[in-house]
Amino acid sequence: MNKHAAGAVSLLTDIEKDGPGYNLVMPFFVVEGKGVRKPVVSMPGIAQLSVDLFVKEVAKARALGVPAIIVFGIPKKKDSQARGAYDPDGIVQRAVAAVKKNVKGMCVITDVCLCEYTDHGHCGVMKKSDAAADWAIDLEHTLELLAATAVSHAAAGADMVAPSAMMKGQVRAIRAALYKNGFSRTPVMGYSAKFASAFYGPFRDAAESAPKFGDRTSYQLDPVDDRKALARVAADIAQGADIVMVKPGLAYLDVLRQAKDKFTTPLAVYNVSGEYAMVKAAAANGWIDEKKVVLEEFTAMKRAGAKIIISYHACDVMRWRQDSLALERKKK
Ligand code: PBG
Repeated sequence: MNKHAAGAVSLLTDIEKDGPGYNLVMPFFVVEGKGVRKPVVSMPGIAQLSVDLFVKEVAKARALGVPAIIVFGIPKKKDSQARGAYDPDGIVQRAVAAVKKNVKGMCVITDVCLCEYTDHGHCGVMKKSDAAADWAIDLEHTLELLAATAVSHAAAGADMVAPSAMMKGQVRAIRAALYKNGFSRTPVMGYSAKFASAFYGPFRDAAESAPKFGDRTSYQLDPVDDRKALARVAADIAQGADIVMVKPGLAYLDVLRQAKDKFTTPLAVYNVSGEYAMVKAAAANGWIDEKKVVLEEFTAMKRAGAKIIISYHACDVMRWRQDSLALERKKK
């Protein structure tokens, strides 16, 4: 057996041991409308879906054995207060309710952030409404809105909430609000070590969330600073995170490994949009073997310490697995 295949086998046997695909989370982007499927050009195979088609795709993912999804919403309207994020009738809230009603056994995680909902595209609200030149995040108000968003997701039926805004104290604020509103059992997955990364480029097309001014370096982590990243993981654990995440994956496997060695809280890794786009582009050109590369990447992320992998490849991986199982059965 060659090295690549060995990696693939260990991934698949691991999945086998813990139940099919136990560790994979498939991201989805949901938009308003009906019958809408708008391909994301920079992420081949991924599309923005209206709620009706989203539910159908989630059912297919479930049938493939994908155990969990993470939901991102693109609202009708964006404003300075990110109202669409915590609207009880917002896009994510309706998507979650629809999928919980129609697809059995799928773990539904929601991304809790304001960037898709603010008119300026930042992950929090601003101190001044006309802030482009001299802007600053209003932390206190942002924490209130993130907490309200998480509660509205739980109320819609979300099985887990995942704050990704990188606002200091967000896990504590969300935990407290969930508790106060009767959702004390809803787990929180912190995007704890989230770096200010150029690998998020394609996601910002998909989620229509690129900042209109400035960048996210004031709240996301500096790629050189693994110490600070580990401190943020520790802080999220202290604030009550049930799962902590390192993001992106491939360029930060050392951070993942350090977190694994230091903490006992289960670790997730986000194999982000730019990582996905690079594989897809090279594979489309025939320059790499997509299947082997993806399985090798997943093997590396697990080896580095990830229990959970969030990846746009999740459905493909489970499809490949079904195909190879079918092939084996045929051989017998
Ligand atoms: C929201 C959020 C982002 C991603 C996940 N949640 C974008 C960002 O911080 O700019 C990126 C995911 C990806 O690139 O696949 N804040």
